[in-house]
Amino acid sequence: MIITIDGPVATGKSTVAKKLAARLGFIYFDTGAMYRCLTYALMQRGINLDDRETLLKFLSDFTFDIKQKGSDKQYFVRNEEVTTQIRGQAVTALVSKVAAIPEVRESLVKLQRAWGTKGVNAVFEGRDLGTVVFPHADLKIFLSGNLEIRAQRRLEEWKTKFPKEADHLTLQHMKQEIENRDMKDSTRVVSPLKCAEDAYVVDTSNLSVDQVVDEILARANSL
Ligand code: DC
Repeated sequence: MIITIDGPVATGKSTVAKKLAARLGFIYFDTGAMYRCLTYALMQRGINLDDRETLLKFLSDFTFDIKQKGSDKQYFVRNEEVTTQIRGQAVTALVSKVAAIPEVRESLVKLQRAWGTKGVNAVFEGRDLGTVVFPHADLKIFLSGNLEIRAQRRLEEWKTKFPKEADHLTLQHMKQEIENRDMKDSTRVVSPLKCAEDAYVVDTSNLSVDQVVDEILARANSL
């Protein structure tokens, strides 16, 4: 069984997907982390995104690893652990640009589909999982949420994870960053962020993580 969870920035996708997968005993895939690992690797190598030839060569060799540590996942690019770095400001500022490159999507979607082969029980979370990657998923969820509340959540998360970087951040700044990224993700030409026609929409603005998970579980159990 494949469950997809898509939606804009800071609607709780990762937290919900992780908890849902744990409740169901399913595997959980955070596809945004893949785009982030690739972005980090491109930055480290100083690759110019407009230099398509070098970019394509790099893509054909690119690999990354995911390891499970307790209930968390660790991400590695060429043996370097990048779990924290890929959530930082530098990667976050560039990732939507990288994710809009057609060849990037082609190669990462191939990997995602390979993980979702027949018989797997998994929750896949991202932007285009229900529309493009797994159009025949058993259950498609689209999370939405009020911008102000999403910005507040993201700001609190940053203050905990990156206290130094978050020191100068304001709610206004967070709102702008979220709006910018959502705009880039939903207006790109290839597989933009959008709600699949057959997706079940959950507005997470005023719900706890457990309430969202319970709502999705109820849907899954009614299939
Ligand atoms: O979910 P996230 O914020 O970690 O995702 C980072 C970026 O990756 C997001 O701005 C858009 C892109 N992304 C995408 O284009 N397609 C996906 N399936 C997942 C993420």
